[in-house]
Amino acid sequence: MTQIQTDRPAYDVVSYVRRGSRMTASQRGWLERHADRWLIPFLAGPRTRSVAAQPPLDLQAVFGRRGDLVVEIGCGQGEALTAAAQLHPGTDFLGFEVFEPALAVSLGRIAAAGLTNVRLVAADAIGGLEHLIAPGALSQLWVFFPDPWPKARHHKRRLVSPAFAALAADRLGRGGWLRLATDWPDYAAAMTEALSARDDLTAVPAGRFAERPLTKFERRALEQGRTVQDLTYRRTDPSGAAASPIPITRSESAPPQAGSRPPDHSPAPATPDESEPQS
Ligand SMILES: C[S@@+](CC[C@H](N)C(=O)[O-])C[C@H]1O[C@@H](n2cnc3c(N)ncnc32)[C@H](O)[C@@H]1O
Repeated sequence: MTQIQTDRPAYDVVSYVRRGSRMTASQRGWLERHADRWLIPFLAGPRTRSVAAQPPLDLQAVFGRRGDLVVEIGCGQGEALTAAAQLHPGTDFLGFEVFEPALAVSLGRIAAAGLTNVRLVAADAIGGLEHLIAPGALSQLWVFFPDPWPKARHHKRRLVSPAFAALAADRLGRGGWLRLATDWPDYAAAMTEALSARDDLTAVPAGRFAERPLTKFERRALEQGRTVQDLTYRRTDPSGAAASPIPITRSESAPPQAGSRPPDHSPAPATPDESEPQS
């Protein structure tokens, strides 16, 4: 991974902390074998995982074509990206993730599936959206189970804020989709307040996103009796018009009933052997 240090000022507050990145032998192997093929190089800023000012990615060069672009922020172990990339070979998928062991598992999963329409960026997604993605470039932006930062004094670290809403709306093409999920009711309320305040985002009562696989974060929430909320917005004109060249290719399902579970498409957890994780 090529990262050139620059003197760009550090962000004051970011949505992640520098965590220990101890990796298993398998994870190290996936990173070593697959980073060149699937990790996108970028100019790094001075702070851990920050992104320096630079021209947006040349998507034609990255993917060898121009398809609709879906970005996932905090893609974790890559379950959602991998599943969607297999289902939609004509669409390109880009995941931002700051936690190296999770990135390594994603790389193994993507490589095992031989996917050509997915890439990852090992960076802060806020700087990534600011500097690597051009305005209007996204057909969808996904944020599934962002770190909740439950203590009030940490709320400023939450990814979804009014500033995030402005950035997301700017990077989405007209008619593009913003999809979020959280199991923290007060975070869902704060997300709704920030996103619904904008006149260029329109809430869509869509229910659970049918293509979102069940990951350990949702499973744990359901086991502990918490309700998962999906929030869906569409990038509209300030007038409210949603007319868009972007086709609606994804269906929505009804939210799971209390006590029921969404279908489990999640792969087996990464194991410390040398095989690639299964998609
Ligand atoms: C709770 S996990 C959810 C992972 C995945 N979306 C899922 O549903 O399984 C949140 C993830 O977001 C990542 N993350 C947090 N802030 C980030 C940021 N600013 N840019 C990129 N990734 C971030 C964390 O490292 C973590 O892997």
